[in-house]
Amino acid sequence: MSNTTYRIAPSILSADFARLGEEVRQVIADGADWIHFDVMDNHYVPNLTFGPMVCQALKPHAVTPSGQAVPIDVHLMVQPVDALAELFAQAGADLISFHPDASTHVHRSVQAIKAAGCQVGVTFNPAEPLDVLDWVIDDIDLILIMSVNPGFGGQSFIDSALRKIEQARKRIEASGKDIRLEVDGGVKVDNIARVAAAGADTFVAGSAIFGKPDYKAVIGAMRAELAKV
Ligand code: DX5
Ligand code: ZN
Repeated sequence: MSNTTYRIAPSILSADFARLGEEVRQVIADGADWIHFDVMDNHYVPNLTFGPMVCQALKPHAVTPSGQAVPIDVHLMVQPVDALAELFAQAGADLISFHPDASTHVHRSVQAIKAAGCQVGVTFNPAEPLDVLDWVIDDIDLILIMSVNPGFGGQSFIDSALRKIEQARKRIEASGKDIRLEVDGGVKVDNIARVAAAGADTFVAGSAIFGKPDYKAVIGAMRAELAKV
């Protein structure tokens, strides 16, 4: 994995909601590669966050200090999927991931997100197999492995996710496609190297970054760990 370009995607779920625009600008200035945007609907998951209007409001803030746009990585924890995915595409999302068990027609959701102009990801909960990839891997840009049960920040990393990351990496290699492998939940400075060694190249971190006063120090420590892999 030595040639891997790692991406760190802070989840604004753990940011200060009263100052979201500033938080997004700050974490990008401090080294974030993507902004992870957790959408919860109090139906698919037992929590409620923000919708496309907040995404649209944050879009102009998702820039580096020199004005370069930073991708907004929308993680939909909603059911049904398609109508909200379309609204997030219009609101400036760059990537949209959804949970296959929240969509009645998974292939249709994949195609709809692509047709709306976004990159598309499929997401797997801790107890879900990767089987659906047999049928959509040729059409997707990202696989998102949940290493906690979706719904809340600040949970502990579930170790069995490491085996699933290894399996997902094998599937990506077999496909020959350029697909990112993202991991979400409980990722910290002290376990990010293990997650990368299992095959992940993109790391969501909410409480590990926004829970600390110095985002730059945390992101820097994560990159130092990744450099050892
Ligand atoms: C959980 C969300 C995660 C969460 C990660 O449902 O999808 O993105 O914010 O938070 P931490 O890094 O605190 O586990
Ligand atoms: Zn997430």
